[in-house]
Amino acid sequence: MFGAPSNPTASGLAEGAACGAAPLRPCPLNAWMKANTSPAILANDFDTLAIDFEKVASFAPANYQNWSSIAKDGADAARARSLDGVKAACRGCHAQYKDRYKKEMRDRPL
Ligand code: HEC
Repeated sequence: MFGAPSNPTASGLAEGAACGAAPLRPCPLNAWMKANTSPAILANDFDTLAIDFEKVASFAPANYQNWSSIAKDGADAARARSLDGVKAACRGCHAQYKDRYKKEMRDRPL
């Protein structure tokens, strides 16, 4: 009644993907965000957030025109101790670039 999986390629591994969910290795920017920006925002740690945003600005890929300015606005918001401004920068970049980045260069080393 329950046969062996009929389609061994339907394993959840995207073809050619070098990073992603287990068993693949974590994607570099994804892992960096989780290790740095997430704890900093949860702790309202504006000093660390300012440093993180400056780093994010330096990660800007070519042709992602607004990436660095969004990140720099985030750094300014962190220095001004504006949680709303910080969140707007996180959200702004994610809304504009997260899907595209995942499609185009997810496994790019930082
Ligand atoms: C200028 C761009 C940019 C900014 C600013 C930015 N991120 Fe991201 N973030 C990304 C991209 C692109 C990804 C997708 C990386 C991947 O999944 O490979 C990502 C992924 C993440 C993830 C991984 C989980 C998920 O949602 O896919 C977390 C968590 C995250 N960001 C948190 C934050 C927080 C918190 C901030 C603000 C303090 C922030 N990010 C600011 C670009 C940005």
